[in-house]
Amino acid sequence: MDDAKRAAGIHAARYVENGMRVGLGTGSTVHHTIVALGERQPDITCTATSLRTHELATSLGLIVVDPDTIGHLDITIDGADEVDGDLNLTKGGGGAHTREKIVAAMSDRFIIVVDESKLVDRLGPFGTPLEVLDFAPGVVAAAVQALGATSVAVRAERSDNGNVLCDAHFPPIEDPVALAAQLSAIPGVVEHGIFPGSMVERVVVAGTDGSVTERTH
Ligand code: A5P
Repeated sequence: MDDAKRAAGIHAARYVENGMRVGLGTGSTVHHTIVALGERQPDITCTATSLRTHELATSLGLIVVDPDTIGHLDITIDGADEVDGDLNLTKGGGGAHTREKIVAAMSDRFIIVVDESKLVDRLGPFGTPLEVLDFAPGVVAAAVQALGATSVAVRAERSDNGNVLCDAHFPPIEDPVALAAQLSAIPGVVEHGIFPGSMVERVVVAGTDGSVTERTH
């Protein structure tokens, strides 16, 4: 599977051109995009969606500045945990979804890199990552369960922002955009891992047979 992740990651790096302001995602697939950019050394300025991506990119000689300094992005490349037929995404398996969503929203173009195992009919089987304020996580979990989650599991590790990370498990999600709005409305939910397909320009999908295809709207 790592060969497929590498193929998708390297394929997406070709969308990055000199002069661009680039958002760098988090995870084992976009890792290969970042390494490819490090090898090519284009004339770009980047912002990172996690501390580990920041460390990787700077170690490869890429220029990385914070989001407020860069202000606006031409393109962001990131991974995903699930992709449905409308390009709605589940993200946050690595706990970076809050920063990832901020960076994606700053970008003219949002390109996703996945291996084919991430394609699903409906979001949900992976779980829905949540970043939650460490004030009343039990109260927040109860509110999430009231929306239909069968369980909400708290992770041992915190986010880069110091907040609690949870995974909510819903039955197959019929309307991800509606659920996203409901989760966002719960006080104490800092951010959830549902990214609406409307944010996504294209999804680069690599197969275990060596194929690389793209999905667009
Ligand atoms: C990070 O929090 C996530 O959103 C990742 O982008 C996602 O988990 C994809 O990671 P992999 O490419 O490692 O599967």
